[in-house]
Amino acid sequence: MFRNEIDTVNGQLREDLERMGLAYIQDREGKAVICQMENNPPASPAPSVMPALLLNNEGYRITITKENITINAASGKGMYHGLQSFRQLVLSEYKGFQEEGRFNESNFSLSCGEIIDYPRFPWRGFMLDCSRYFYSITFIKHIIDVLSLHHINRFHWHLSDDQGWRLPVPEYPLLTETGSLRKDHRMPWIPFTGGFYSEEAIRNLVEYAAKRHIDVVPEIDLPGHASAILAAYPDLGCTGGPYHVEDRFGIFEDVLCAGNNRIFDLIAKVFDSLVWLFPSSYVHIGGDEVLFNRWKACPKCQKRLSELGLKKPKELQSWITQRLVTMLAERGKTAIGWDEVLEDSQQFRLPKETVVMSWRGSKGGIAASKRGHPVIMVPNTEGCYLDYKHIDDPEEPGQTFNIISTVYKSYCMNPVAPQMTEEESSQILGGQCNLWSELIYAGKIAEYMIFPRLCAVAEAVWTPPENKNFDDFSRRLITHQKRLDLLGLLQYRGPLR
Ligand code: ACM
Ligand code: ZN
Repeated sequence: MFRNEIDTVNGQLREDLERMGLAYIQDREGKAVICQMENNPPASPAPSVMPALLLNNEGYRITITKENITINAASGKGMYHGLQSFRQLVLSEYKGFQEEGRFNESNFSLSCGEIIDYPRFPWRGFMLDCSRYFYSITFIKHIIDVLSLHHINRFHWHLSDDQGWRLPVPEYPLLTETGSLRKDHRMPWIPFTGGFYSEEAIRNLVEYAAKRHIDVVPEIDLPGHASAILAAYPDLGCTGGPYHVEDRFGIFEDVLCAGNNRIFDLIAKVFDSLVWLFPSSYVHIGGDEVLFNRWKACPKCQKRLSELGLKKPKELQSWITQRLVTMLAERGKTAIGWDEVLEDSQQFRLPKETVVMSWRGSKGGIAASKRGHPVIMVPNTEGCYLDYKHIDDPEEPGQTFNIISTVYKSYCMNPVAPQMTEEESSQILGGQCNLWSELIYAGKIAEYMIFPRLCAVAEAVWTPPENKNFDDFSRRLITHQKRLDLLGLLQYRGPLR
């Protein structure tokens, strides 16, 4: 029982303790920590907590007595979360950097007590943009491991954008041969930068994440943010090109031609590759920031518009979205789209099961919940965009879209908007934070942008609002940042609000 969880955490603890300068010696019986299937409701605390713990298969209970440590859970997920909380306790025993003398076994102790814990939301995510900056698999694995320490359970992998295509698709080899490389004008001495993830690397990463109970959700951004696709297959654009993989950052006019049926041939093969490589039941189809000027001027798009009886070129996006959602449903997958997919969809209604990811504040998510869609909240206005500056200081790295994302703001994020009815709030799957990588030139910079704001969002999507307290979080953060130091992560250390 719990073989995967025990083996995975054994490996993590071995590395953690080595980082502390300690040897990892397993109890001869392997029973320093007892992992038990939850079959009896725990005897304490208040009974009202119990049904939630038992119903929620991500819940766990840790009991520390003088004799032993017991972790109870009803599932592997719950056990893994329990073991990660235990791992946090172990990591916080590292007195490390600022205390005199080396850490040793004699001052390693855990307090006796009981923890009963379970999440508020089933979707607790983090998105990494691997198009604008091409992160190594080694880096992503390290981040995934640390995500799981924070009970994050979804890794949203942004695999395509104007600046690079990262997914191998055997039937369309130019997507990676041409679309994964860009001329980086900051580094004129290097012919091209970029790359793509091999099938083997992707499988390996998905397996690594699965062992940590993290679902890897791939995103292919369609029909905009498509410069890399067009550079590879120029006949799929309205003008025919020439196109190139973008090195500038922004929103570009060239998108997939809505009048060309061959775009769906390519998308079908892309989806086949995703189905082949990713076991997740979700695929993210993007849909954000599509410009319509090319569709206005393109005879093929105009023909399509009149055939469909549509008036505005913008409506073609909802027609495309509906097709993509159906193509995914045929492959057993549920589509997720950025909140733009909800717009102008009177004629081609967005299928109910489509998940809407609300990024332009919460309004898209609120509207989607009213229309019965499952919703994931990632409001850029509420601390969920980790590419924004931590504070208003010209020397801080980060985007300057007039939005500052303090740690405090990230902590206050609440996936349920105050004006939502009970029915609407029941549509909320959870929330996440995103790291876009336009201004990221190395994984270390990414770490600085991610931590500790991710810690704040992780708590916001796990803990019920009545148990949140920023002062308490700030105090715990002092210990937590030492844990992250020990894991080798670069962190922002400035003002929290
Ligand atoms: C987005 O930030 N363009 C989804
Ligand atoms: Zn066109």
